Amino acid sequence: MAVYDDARGLLAHELFSQVELHRIFGGVVPELASRDHVRRLLPLVKSALSLAATAPVELSGVVYTAGPGLIGALLTGAALGRSLAYGWRIPALGVHHLEGHLLAPLLEPEAPDFPHLALLVSGGHTMLIEVRAVGSYVILGQTRDDAAGEAFDKTAKLLGLPYPGGPELAQLALSGRPGVFTFPRPMLDRAGLEFSFSGLKTAVLHAVRACELTTAVKADIAYAVQDAIVETLVTKALRGLEETGLDTLVVSGGVGANKALRARMRAAVEARGGRVFYPRLEFCTDNAAMIAVAGLKRLAAGQHSGLAIEARAQWPLDALEAL
Ligand code: KG4
Ligand code: ZN
Repeated sequence: MAVYDDARGLLAHELFSQVELHRIFGGVVPELASRDHVRRLLPLVKSALSLAATAPVELSGVVYTAGPGLIGALLTGAALGRSLAYGWRIPALGVHHLEGHLLAPLLEPEAPDFPHLALLVSGGHTMLIEVRAVGSYVILGQTRDDAAGEAFDKTAKLLGLPYPGGPELAQLALSGRPGVFTFPRPMLDRAGLEFSFSGLKTAVLHAVRACELTTAVKADIAYAVQDAIVETLVTKALRGLEETGLDTLVVSGGVGANKALRARMRAAVEARGGRVFYPRLEFCTDNAAMIAVAGLKRLAAGQHSGLAIEARAQWPLDALEAL
């Protein structure tokens, strides 16, 4: 839950993580997620407003994530967002989750100009997108199978790491040694901007079965997994800059919180005279501040969802209306 002011910026930003709730199941359980949202949402609204020292009468609109994603969880947020707006007599608007990720860098004091290239890497998506303006997104390449975050999470699971595996695997990789294991860099040998990460999972499964999984071996595998994913993402992002002639790259989405990726991407892009923008870590993983920023841009342009409660499991990014 976030309260955002056009002039003063982010006034409050609250997160109730469901990680603990889902951990024993090794992944998100959709029904539990929706039911827990029901319990958590109103208290979060209250605490965000109080933290922002803002009364509902001061608000000019309510924006909520309308998709794509788990329909039950989306409906919970959409129904609450639309209802609050109805009670407060202000407009409501459903926002595209990925547009939130793409516009998250606008939360930072130094924001990238348009057009730029975005590498959107999350648990569900791996995409290179030409961001021409707010709402004008051209998908240049995406994954054919698993997303980068999924590759982190699934290989982490094979190593016996708890959910969500991405940050755990990155932590373990810190003590891993380079060169002990080498995993395939999928699609690097092929032209184009598409990704494929499902082969990595299989390669790791073979490695795990072939050796005794001591802590040191796990760390070496974690290092090699991260190295393969990071190198693939960096190489394709550079290729994207080259093909579009753009010099600014934005890295967003949960995997954008990965420190090895951030460091290597910065070095590689700056070496060719380009610039990289990262939202800070808390704005990389899912958060309400990025939805507030994206939604406010659209509200300010006069868009709203009327009385509809908008929730879409699927919602192509390039179907959005440009501002
Ligand atoms: O954007 P996000 O919070 O949620 C989705 O929309 O999917 O991304 C979550 C993904 C998960 O796969 C998680 O493991 C990964 O981002 N992730 C990381 C790191 N932090 C989060 N992956 C690698 N290293 C990290 N530090
Ligand atoms: Zn996300």
